[in-house]
Amino acid sequence: MHFTSIFLGLAGLLASASAKPANTTAYKHFECGVDISRASAHFNQTIRAMHQGVFKAHSGTQVAGIVARAAAAQPIAVDVAFHVITTAAKEGTISQKMVDDQFAALNTAYAPTNIQFKRVATTYTTNDAWAVGAGSDATALKTALRNGTYATLNVYFLTDLAGSILGTCSLPSNIGPGTPDPSTYIGDGCMIQANTMPGGNIYGFNQGKTTVHEVGHWMGLLHTFEGYSCSGNGDFVADTPMQSTSTDGCPSKPAKDSCPQNVGVDPIHNYMDYSDDACYTNFTPGQTKRMAGMWAAYRANR
Ligand SMILES: *[C@@H]1O[C@H](CO)[C@@H](O)[C@H](O)[C@H]1NC(C)=O
Ligand SMILES: *[C@@H]1O[C@H](CO)[C@@H](O)[C@H](O)[C@H]1NC(C)=O
Ligand SMILES: *[C@@H]1O[C@H](CO)[C@@H](O)[C@H](O)[C@H]1NC(C)=O
Ligand SMILES: [Zn+2]
Repeated sequence: MHFTSIFLGLAGLLASASAKPANTTAYKHFECGVDISRASAHFNQTIRAMHQGVFKAHSGTQVAGIVARAAAAQPIAVDVAFHVITTAAKEGTISQKMVDDQFAALNTAYAPTNIQFKRVATTYTTNDAWAVGAGSDATALKTALRNGTYATLNVYFLTDLAGSILGTCSLPSNIGPGTPDPSTYIGDGCMIQANTMPGGNIYGFNQGKTTVHEVGHWMGLLHTFEGYSCSGNGDFVADTPMQSTSTDGCPSKPAKDSCPQNVGVDPIHNYMDYSDDACYTNFTPGQTKRMAGMWAAYRANR
């Protein structure tokens, strides 16, 4: 990985920027802070059960029963709170229009799945430390800003997100019986580089699709290349072809095929790969069913 070098590169690039930072190519690749090593034991058990119980094989072939219905059986309505946190130097660079367009992009991407988001709150904060979102500052900002329950999606858009990543989210897990106090799951939610919003300055990643990808994790999906292997369980979803490398850009001609011995070429247009925003077009029916299952298992009515 190339975390440190890219992060310092971006910091240097933006340090001298005035009100509206210039188009930056500092992020050469999508990098995301989520993988199964960060999953809880409970999540691991659940995703295995859902894989074995619902899907037969990770073959890349479509499985009867999940193909017919690309959308969740019942519409799923998710309350979402957007929080924009900027440094003092970048105050005003993340406009209301960018935030509105981000929200629209999220719902457009999820419309075929029957999952829709309702914005219940939008907050704007100027705080140099919180805009980086590392360590105890991440906890502090979430403690101050998190809204709603475990069923409420909180997205923190940070102008200077640490770690040279474009975003990270928490996978769902068991918060225990009853209705625990939100302080017990204060870390839940997503932290996203604010300039990935539509109209942001991150070249290749400024159509709002980073948020679409990250919210997929919050809904219980893993990367299509999880495990970086042509064998094993991969992402535990049956209708995403096996993929042993993440994708840069949009290599469609010739088709990228990191597991030629397996059925199907790499799902480079899938929101859970690392492709450019312009390349992303879909979730599979299996992923949609997984999100609906994870929602019911972990977040609905919590
Ligand atoms: C942003 O940078 C890329 C790569 O250098 C370039 O192709 C693109 O035209 C630039 N866009 C703007 C709006 O300057
Ligand atoms: C969940 O599974 C992953 C992959 O096997 C593993 O790395 C991780 O440690 C597991 N989580 C826990 C809490 O055991
Ligand atoms: C959540 O946001 C709404 C709308 O701004 C606000 O009325 C409510 O007080 C917030 N709740 C918490 C816990 O911050
Ligand atoms: Zn990811």
